[in-house]
Parts: sequence; structure tokens; C-alpha cells
Amino acid sequence: MLLSWSFLVLALGGLAAAVPARRANYVVHEKRAAEPSSAWTLSRRLESDMVLPMRFGLTQSNIDRVEEILMSISHPESPTFGKHLSPEQVIDMFKPSSETVDVVKSWLVGSGIAPERIRITGNKGWIELNATVAEAEDLLNTEYHVYEHESGAEQISCHSYSLPGHVQPHIELVKPTVHFNHRVSPGGYIPEKLKKRTGKLGQPSPYNGPKTNGQTPSINPTLDECDEYITPACLRALYNIYYTPTQTGRNTYGVVEFTPQSYLATDLDMFFGNYSPNLVGSRPTLVSIDGGQYEPSQYQGFSYNGESDLDFEYAMTLVYPQNVTLLQTGDMVEGGGFDNWLDAVDASFCTYEGGDVPSQDGIYPDTAPGGYDAPESCGIIPPPYVVSTSYGQDEVSATPAYAIRQCNEYAKLGMMGTTVLYASGDYGVAGFGGECIDATTGEETLNGTRFNPDFPATCPYVTAVGATQVSPGRTVYEPESAAETVIYSGGGFSNIFAMPSYQATAVRHYLEAYPPPYTAAQYNNSGNVRAFPDLAANGVNYVIAIDGEFELVYGTSASSPVVGSMITMVNDARLAAGKGPIGFLNPAIYSPLFAAAFHDITNGTNQGCGKPF
Ligand SMILES: *[C@@H]1O[C@H](CO)[C@@H](O)[C@H](O)[C@H]1NC(C)=O
Ligand SMILES: *[C@@H]1O[C@H](CO)[C@@H](O)[C@H](O)[C@H]1NC(C)=O
Ligand SMILES: *[C@@H]1O[C@H](CO)[C@@H](O)[C@H](O)[C@H]1NC(C)=O
Ligand SMILES: *[C@@H]1O[C@H](CO)[C@@H](O)[C@H](O)[C@H]1NC(C)=O
Ligand SMILES: *[C@@H]1O[C@H](CO)[C@@H](O)[C@H](O)[C@H]1NC(C)=O
Repeated sequence: MLLSWSFLVLALGGLAAAVPARRANYVVHEKRAAEPSSAWTLSRRLESDMVLPMRFGLTQSNIDRVEEILMSISHPESPTFGKHLSPEQVIDMFKPSSETVDVVKSWLVGSGIAPERIRITGNKGWIELNATVAEAEDLLNTEYHVYEHESGAEQISCHSYSLPGHVQPHIELVKPTVHFNHRVSPGGYIPEKLKKRTGKLGQPSPYNGPKTNGQTPSINPTLDECDEYITPACLRALYNIYYTPTQTGRNTYGVVEFTPQSYLATDLDMFFGNYSPNLVGSRPTLVSIDGGQYEPSQYQGFSYNGESDLDFEYAMTLVYPQNVTLLQTGDMVEGGGFDNWLDAVDASFCTYEGGDVPSQDGIYPDTAPGGYDAPESCGIIPPPYVVSTSYGQDEVSATPAYAIRQCNEYAKLGMMGTTVLYASGDYGVAGFGGECIDATTGEETLNGTRFNPDFPATCPYVTAVGATQVSPGRTVYEPESAAETVIYSGGGFSNIFAMPSYQATAVRHYLEAYPPPYTAAQYNNSGNVRAFPDLAANGVNYVIAIDGEFELVYGTSASSPVVGSMITMVNDARLAAGKGPIGFLNPAIYSPLFAAAFHDITNGTNQGCGKPF
């Protein structure tokens, strides 16, 4: 096989014939998966003296050991429990081995590249080199072409490229090559701006964020009325959270919001005036990520303010006097995706395995009018000890590569001592808007019959938070039920992620003792995939101040910041006792050691996709 391939190369390439010793053992490394659409036509060979900013992504060490390493730090029975890693230790753990760096460097130098032209990036994940097109074509045994779009825009790309057999295992990918996203511009070659973004996390939509039924609540209910109106007092009684933080100078709690979602200061004060008078005039501490700002004049209405108002009214009240950090992500033009806030808390993630994905994330700098035209926010703050995010997307709308890259990053945050919480969605086993997956096409539709789980909740390295309710006529002193008022708590099984070891016993017991009346036609019932959520907390009938009035809202959007507040208080107590933050929670949640701290929710359903259960 190898022989005939090298024969082909030698026979076809004049240039290759001149350097037979090097080309003889080349193997194809990446090939374009699909040809560009018919709107693009191949225009010409790229000029051989143009300079390309070549980036060689080096193979990471230990990436297959992510779960094992995370468990050794976060499983309560592990001897190294709580021994979190520093950012430098995480970089060291996953950085390419020195052998990898040496092999790739010697290959470049042996090919005639002067060592001083080769640079290794700060996170040690990439080798950078400005190479002429002629040099790049020679190194990669390829040809670069310019493609022209009907609109006149140009892109460069090669159809496939090769590497020497002994170098190939040390390189994950090379850019720019087959990835059809580099356009020609007078200043050089820059990643193409996305045409269509699927993320749109902060864009108003009736499906994202908490739901309202427009009811005007009683704003000072007694504890007997928590089945109709949830207030901070109801939550304290329900979960026995009577605790005043003392470690406020050291503890941190962040909540992520995606622009154009924003809180309104007047709403916070209206809520605080009624439920936490000490907080009137207080605001979350803004961390501006990729141009995110407090710009209330631009945003009005429930679907712009509902999520942020809810998050900060409850989180700030519950953890007072602990400050809460607002991770406001994205500018007004592009907004942001999950990778954008991750870049901001971990500089090494900015470029890890190639960096952010234009179909999902904001790509900065943003040169559009009004855009954030500055370098992307990369490692601008240390990760807060707890981060709650009440946004999600249907797992099926992410590619496995995108989801896995991001999920590994949550594991790294866990190794560093951060608890990452995500709301599990408001549509039961269905996806946003009640859509399910069509069994034939794999597309999302209202008529779909396959269950449609929510990401990042399905990532086994986040804590997914579902919603419960105090059922009508019940009190805060009785067990809660799954949320079935206005929303159904999101839950189910992943189609991407395997089952993590920490939940295997619990989930297999559930599947055996209470087998769901569904088959492989609805979900992966192998018993070997990630099940979610991990925790649930009340998400029904929350009284919030929104756009100048009190309303009732519903959603796992409420549950996640409330659980985040509780974990922040756990961290406060740990810090006060001279310990570190708790970090990744799930192994403790499922451990018999902590079983007494949780109630099983045994009543209610998370229906969807036309199924009642
Ligand atoms: C490549 O060239 C650009 C533009 O001149 C420069 O900013 C960059 O540092 C160079 N990179 C390397 C690895 O030499
Ligand atoms: C909390 O935030 C306020 C306002 O941003 C600031 O003045 C105060 O120093 C912060 N407190 C702590 C303990 O960080
Ligand atoms: C769903 O099914 C109905 C009835 O079979 C059909 O009229 C409709 O077009 C379908 N909708 C979608 C989105 O496929
Ligand atoms: C179900 O998950 C298992 C374990 O990840 C996997 O091997 C299997 O292919 C999945 N089944 C389907 C139908 O996707
Ligand atoms: C179980 O849930 C149903 C429906 O929400 C509710 O009517 C009932 O009161 C709940 N039972 C208990 C014991 O909470």
C-alpha cells in the first residue's frame, strides 16, 4: 500500500521527484470532507511567493486520561481528593510531549526551515511558522488554490495534504489547509466570518430562557403558599439554607450571560427592595468578555431581561454578602457561544485543537460596524469557583468534535477546582421548542420521535441541573416532584457521550428497577451513555421583578443559579475551615457518602416527543 502510494507521488510530482528521500514515506493526513458549494469556483494556483501563517497543531498528551485524572481529584474516596491542579499543571498535563515537539521541529529544520523562524505557542499546543506558499506546498506535498465566490470573495484551500509517516502521529492538524475558512484579504489570510451561526445563545427566543405565564403574583406569600409562589424565603425553607458567607474576599461565584441578554438595574433594585433590602444599589461585578457590556438602553422586554434578572435577583440574594460576578459574553453584533466564556477563564483553551468554531461561537476581533474590534478575551480572569450557565443548545446541533473539545475543557476546569453548572433544558426529553429528532433524516422537527437531549448538560464533566416543583397543595416540608407546570425538566441520555464511571451504578439501577417503556427507537438504551441531569432544584413559580413589574417565571434557568448559590455557600464553609473549593461535584453527588444530603425525586415526569413519561 505504502509502496504504491509513494510510487504514485513520485510518478506524478515533478517537485517530489527532486526530493525522493523525504517524499517516499509521506502519508495523507487530512482530505477535504466535502467540496465547496457550487457558489465557489476554482480560480487559480496561489502565488508561490505569498506568505502563509502556518500553524501545526501538536498531538496532546493524556487526553485519553481526562476522566481518570478528573476522578482522582474529585472522587471523595480518592486519596488525592481536592488536590486541584494549577493552570500551569493542567497545561503540563496535556501539553504535547517533548518528543512530539522535537520530531516536528527536526522535520521542519531538516526541510530547510531555519530554527529561528519556528515559534512554539504559550500553551505549547502549536508550532507557528510564516512560510511561503512554495515552502508550504513542499512541506505538505500539496497545492494551494484560490477559490472565488459568486460575490467576488476569495478563499484559499488545498484539497488534501500529507506528512512524513514518522511525523504524522505527532500532528493533529495543520492550518491553513483543507478547512475551507480562510479568505484572501489585503492584510493576509484571516478566518472567514461566519455566514450563519447556529449558537445565537443570547438572541431572544420564546424557547430559551425562563418562561412566564404573565401572572401577577402575591409578592409576600407565607411559607404555606410556596406551592403557588417561590421566593427566597421558600427556597431557604425548602433546602434549609440559612447561612451567611464570611469568606467573601476569597470566594468567587460567576454567572454567564450572552449578549444581548442583560439585567436591568431598576429590576434588581425593585426585587432587592422587597426581598433583600441590604442589596439595594448593589450590582453584579462585571467581567466584560469579547466586548460584553451593561447596555440596558439597547435591551428591553422579557426575552432580553428575563434570564439575567432572574439569575442575579436570586443568586445575589441567596449568597449575600458574597459578590456575584457577571460574565457578560459577546458584543452586540455577534454575541457569544460557550467557547467564548471558556476562552476568557483559560487562555490555553483559546487555541486548543484549533480554537473556536465560527458556526457556534463569536469570532473576535469583530470588524463589523459596532463590533468588538479588539483581541479576543483570552485568559482575562481566573475561573470562578462556581459558574452557573442557564443556556444550552440541542446536542444534535453541535458536531461531536465541537462538543467533545468543549467538554474536555469543563473537565480541565474541574481539575482546577471549578464547579460548572448548566441548566438541563425546559422541554423534558425533547429539545428547544419541543422539537425531537426525525428517525430517518436525523433532523430536528416537531414531528420527530427520537428524544433530543440538551448540550452542554450531556457533557459528563458538568453538573446538569433539572427543575422540581412544590406540587399544588403541598408544602416546603414535603418531598418535591419533577417540574410539570409550564415546563418539563430537561433530561435523558446523550447521543455523543459515554457513561462516566461515577454514575454507572445509579443509572444502571434506574434502568433495571424502573425500566423506561421506550426502546432504542427513542434513545440510546444501551446503559452505556451519559444520563442527565445530575441534580434538580425548584424551578416553578419564581417571583421575579422584570421590566418594572413582578411576574412568575419557570425553568431550569432558575434551578441552576440557585444550586450555584448553595455550592458557593458550601465553598464558603470549606474556605472558612481552611480547605479548597469543592470543584467538580458529580462523583460526590452519586457517592453513597453524600447520599444523605440529597432527596430522590420519585414523583412526576419529564415528558416530551409525544410521550407522557
Ligand atoms: C508571522 O508574520 C506576522 C506578520 O508579520 C508576525 O506578526 C508574526 O509574529 C510572524 N510569526 C512568526 C511565527 O514568525
Ligand atoms: C464587592 O463588590 C463591590 C462593588 O463592586 C466592591 O466594592 C467590593 O470591594 C467587593 N467585595 C469583595 C469582598 O470583593
Ligand atoms: C408534521 O406532520 C404533519 C401531519 O402528518 C404534517 O402536516 C406536517 O407538515 C409535519 N411537520 C413537519 C415539520 O414535518
Ligand atoms: C449507544 O451508545 C453506545 C455507547 O456509547 C454506542 O456504542 C452505540 O453505538 C450507541 N448506539 C446507537 C444506536 O447510537
Ligand atoms: C405528584 O405529582 C402530581 C402532579 O404534579 C401532583 O398532583 C401530586 O400532588 C404529586 N404527589 C406528591 C406526593 O407530591
